[in-house]
Amino acid sequence: MQKIIIEGSRRLVGEVTISGAKNSALAILTAAILADSKCTIRNLPDIRDVAYIKDMLLQMGAKVETNQDTMVVDGSNISKYKIDMDLAKKMRASYYFLGALMGKFNKAEIPFPGGCDIGVRPIDLHIKGLEALGAKIKLSHGVIKAKATELVGATIYLDVVSVGATLNIMLAACKAKGVTTIENAAKEPYIVDTANFLNAMGANIKGAGTDVIKIKGVSVLHGCEHTIIPDQMEAGTFMAAAAATRGDVLIKNVIPTHLEAISAKLREMGVEVIEYEDSLRVINNGRTKAVNIKTLPYPGFPTDMQQPVSVLLALSDGTAIITESIFESRFKYLDELKRMGAKIKVEGRVAVIEGVSKLSGAPIYATDLRAGAAMVVAGLVAEGKTEISNIGHIDRGYEKLEEKLIKLGAKIKRVDED
Ligand code: EPZ
Repeated sequence: MQKIIIEGSRRLVGEVTISGAKNSALAILTAAILADSKCTIRNLPDIRDVAYIKDMLLQMGAKVETNQDTMVVDGSNISKYKIDMDLAKKMRASYYFLGALMGKFNKAEIPFPGGCDIGVRPIDLHIKGLEALGAKIKLSHGVIKAKATELVGATIYLDVVSVGATLNIMLAACKAKGVTTIENAAKEPYIVDTANFLNAMGANIKGAGTDVIKIKGVSVLHGCEHTIIPDQMEAGTFMAAAAATRGDVLIKNVIPTHLEAISAKLREMGVEVIEYEDSLRVINNGRTKAVNIKTLPYPGFPTDMQQPVSVLLALSDGTAIITESIFESRFKYLDELKRMGAKIKVEGRVAVIEGVSKLSGAPIYATDLRAGAAMVVAGLVAEGKTEISNIGHIDRGYEKLEEKLIKLGAKIKRVDED
């Protein structure tokens, strides 16, 4: 096992380039098996979850060639419709194979997904959507078994805005007979990126990025080329780190509109955020003002950014209230911040944070992926040394995090746990 050690109280100054979006990459690499020939996918992040998806593709019989940030996936010879249990349990996104394999074979056997422990994370809407398309689904011994004679387009209303369910239904509906309409669909950038990829394969998807997506089934999906969009959450994490350390960082290779909710909140806190064509600069010279945050589906404030930004709130002037409206237990990491001196009270989905003047370095651990990012931000601003364990979570979603932070002036290293 390894841990990260950070010597805190150092400003981040300089430039950082953001990698491809994890949550786009996972959906798009899975969607590639729907094509009858090669798909070339560029700007993939070098992270553990992408490696897991690649292992699943290989295990199913797909051909996958990797060259730096590019993968060429050929799923035309896949014959398996079952996913390896051990691999699937390592991450949540393995459930995209449910929609993709139903779209390809009208058959799929997928273990219940793993992923960050931030709530119950049911998959009832995924099942509701696939059953509406004509799938018969059985859940037994932790495996989802789905099959259909054929998939027929339907209108599906999502009771809760769900990124995963929207994507899974889109994957299954691409080759269904007739038109599928997803109402109350998620609008995250990953949805648009995946729809663009599927349309490049010859699918007929309209309305991605709005809350009504129409998919007209086609009979063939062919290979294509695609470049993954920049990672909104990695960019947001660096924005929070730059602001928390009272730094001055130019964050390159971003799509500023994807970061609007984060930029708006930082500006409300008194942080300067200057937007350019494909980059933005975050400058903070003093103590930020406490603000309230309520997480919402896109374009609202992202739930994945609640954790890194909470460090900034822990040091702000005043009392801040965070309302986590997406996941029911995404505050576990706040106990780690309290060990560093933060003053926080949690009641259900609401955290009340009373700003303190400093945090002190301490041995802490990552409870999930974005919590791990929050722990790194906390270590960067805390006085003294912080040791973060359980950092496998961080490696699932952040490419070369230490390297990028060292270039910005951080004193951070990875060592083996003694
Ligand atoms: C995706 O998770 C992301 N993961 C999460 O990012 C992100 O936090 C989340 O979307 C919200 O933006 C990936 O893309 C791999 P949801 P997902 O379905 O799809 C409820 C990260 O750090 N729900 O949009 O699992 C659910 O319980 C990860 O990169 C149902 O009730 O999230 C939650 O309350 C963490 N029934 C809400 O919807 C369902 O069938 C939103 O979940 C599905 C979801």
